[in-house]
Amino acid sequence: MSRILTALQPSGILHIGNYFGAIAPMVSLQDGNENFLFAVDYHAITVPQDPAELRKNLLFAAATYLAAGIDPEKTTLFQQSRVSEHTELAWILNTIAHMGELERMTQYKDKAAGKGEGVSVGLFDYPVLMAADILLYDTEIVPVGEDQKQHLELARDLAERFNNRFGDTFTVPKPSIPKQGARIMGLDDPAKKMSKSASSEKNFISLMDDEKTVLKKIKSAVTDSGTTIEYTKDRPGLANLLTIYSLASEKSTDAIVAEYEGKGYGDFKVGLAEALSDFLSPLQEKINAHLDDPKELIAILDKGAEKAKAIASEKMRIVRDRIGVTL
Ligand code: ADP
Ligand code: TRP
Repeated sequence: MSRILTALQPSGILHIGNYFGAIAPMVSLQDGNENFLFAVDYHAITVPQDPAELRKNLLFAAATYLAAGIDPEKTTLFQQSRVSEHTELAWILNTIAHMGELERMTQYKDKAAGKGEGVSVGLFDYPVLMAADILLYDTEIVPVGEDQKQHLELARDLAERFNNRFGDTFTVPKPSIPKQGARIMGLDDPAKKMSKSASSEKNFISLMDDEKTVLKKIKSAVTDSGTTIEYTKDRPGLANLLTIYSLASEKSTDAIVAEYEGKGYGDFKVGLAEALSDFLSPLQEKINAHLDDPKELIAILDKGAEKAKAIASEKMRIVRDRIGVTL
């Protein structure tokens, strides 16, 4: 029995990279472990959000996790902002985090690029809040995509630094990065990861894309001038599509390659689009069913916040005592 925790930003769409990189691994670890999953709304506001949209996105996030197979009886499902200990611990960790280590964060550098002096302090501090999210619950395993590995390293470093300075307080967490699906690449640029903040809609397949959109996006996906269907690192666009095909259809890439022997990109892309839509449409039905009952969603999130708060507040009591602010 391990403590497993992950979180995602409720920022509009979720794409198949989020699903295969973080949500599906969380679902598969759910049995026999103690699990926490939450929507990090205070991370989302590090870039400007429309309040009405954010509210909608939070419900959408909860609906998606449940549709993907998260069972609220097995996984504490909640909203980060409802457990104020996250931001309280982030403040304390801020006092031991170094400017230099945050300046090195690739995600910050990417997101801040071109924004000049107008970048929010919150965006810079984002990884410290993430460390607080994790350390508050004595998390052992954090299922995330490859891009979050560096943030996990920081959480580990901060845990060790705090423990050295104030005595054993936090469990040092480990990332769990899926063997396949850890880094789904952009359809329009197989050199960069699929991302919801990509400039073109053709970069990603959203979990809510309909059949027509999926086919259109897959047809325009960047490949190469080869004519055969094979899995090789030298053909990154095709390798990415094969990975997606394999994850959506639950067939091995070898089996798919065998299926397309003697066939070209045209047939392959139609087959992939079909496999994706077959995977997405039942998921979409479930998401929509949950969205039709927002009261139920809110009740689940309330209950989750209550459970999380009980653990987090006990941990903060210890942390305050260790640093010497408890009289
Ligand atoms: P995005 O980069 O699209 O904004 P997030 O940063 O909100 O996505 O990521 C949420 C979770 O999904 C994280 O665990 C992250 O590692 C995972 N993830 C994001 N993009 C991908 C991807 N292209 N492939 C695999 N996992 C991904
Ligand atoms: N930073 C993560 C992302 O962009 C989201 C996140 C916030 C997270 N807190 C976390 C992931 C705690 C795992 C554990 O995807």
